[in-house]
Amino acid sequence: MALHRAPRRVGVVGYGRLGQSLVSQLLTQGPELGLELVFVWNRDPSRMAGSVPRSLQLQNLAAVVERHPDLVVEVAHPKIIHESGAQILRHANLLVGSPSALADQATERQLREASHCWGHAVFVARGALWGIEDIARLDAAGGLQSLRVTMATHPDGFRLEGPLAAVHSTRPRTVLYEGPVRGLCPFAPRNSNTMAAAALAAPSLGFDHVIAVLVADLSLTDMHVVDVELTGPPGPTGRSFAVRTHRENPAEPGAVTGSATITTFWRSLLGCCRLPSTPGIHLC
Ligand SMILES: NC(=O)c1ccc[n+]([C@@H]2O[C@H](COP(=O)([O-])OP(=O)(O)OC[C@H]3O[C@@H](n4cnc5c(N)ncnc54)[C@H](O)[C@@H]3O)[C@@H](O)[C@H]2O)c1
Repeated sequence: MALHRAPRRVGVVGYGRLGQSLVSQLLTQGPELGLELVFVWNRDPSRMAGSVPRSLQLQNLAAVVERHPDLVVEVAHPKIIHESGAQILRHANLLVGSPSALADQATERQLREASHCWGHAVFVARGALWGIEDIARLDAAGGLQSLRVTMATHPDGFRLEGPLAAVHSTRPRTVLYEGPVRGLCPFAPRNSNTMAAAALAAPSLGFDHVIAVLVADLSLTDMHVVDVELTGPPGPTGRSFAVRTHRENPAEPGAVTGSATITTFWRSLLGCCRLPSTPGIHLC
């Protein structure tokens, strides 16, 4: 069943694992769902040759406006959000696939300002974060005291920068980072998106108080594991409400994105196409 009478015009920025999957689904299932792919942009355009129709290949990201998109989906790198996120919001709603970009306070402020100025929504894909609605509800009710997200995988699945890139994980399990999400994002921009989504779901704690733990585990050659632990304040008996979830997601060796997360992104795309263009940041 179509989502809207007029097809929603969707552009995709990034043509890696996630981008290729979304583009393929938009081309095959989009028309019956009321979605029209209007462009694909990739830093290296040659990667699109043979699989993306030439008419849909966008050579220059600044030319987004010419394709009149309703929604632009970023599945490339947080840098795209830093450099072009606010500009894209001038023309369309934006689905952010790399929310670690929002750990940068200037970027978050620019996106919020552009969203309100142009009346377009910033959607943040939940990605690998299980239970995001429950976290957001507990936070909104004032019941969230602590939130800790641990992401573990084989070191080949990490794309680390700065001091984290210099750490060699020779032990079976090495904790590479443990601390506020904001401190991790610049050094693991492509492996901190789950933690960033948690920080956005829990604004009472936010990027400075949600705790991120990044673990290199030599046994996890084909899997990404995300553990979420949260507590509420102590009740009258002194005991606290507590939840723990453990998500094991099969992943191709060395991949940044696990298989189940690819499915999740397609659902996020469909979900945000059903939502109104309300200014502000919305999880989907
Ligand atoms: N929210 C989440 O939980 C979650 C989960 C998985 C992936 N992601 C993020 O989604 C994005 C895409 O993931 P993927 O698995 O498709 O990655 P990928 O490595 O397969 O593809 C990334 C694509 O973006 C391009 N790219 C890389 N760096 C770039 C840059 N600086 N500027 C412009 N383009 C650049 C590459 O050429 C490639 O086409 C990444 O940022 C990743 O961290 C988020």
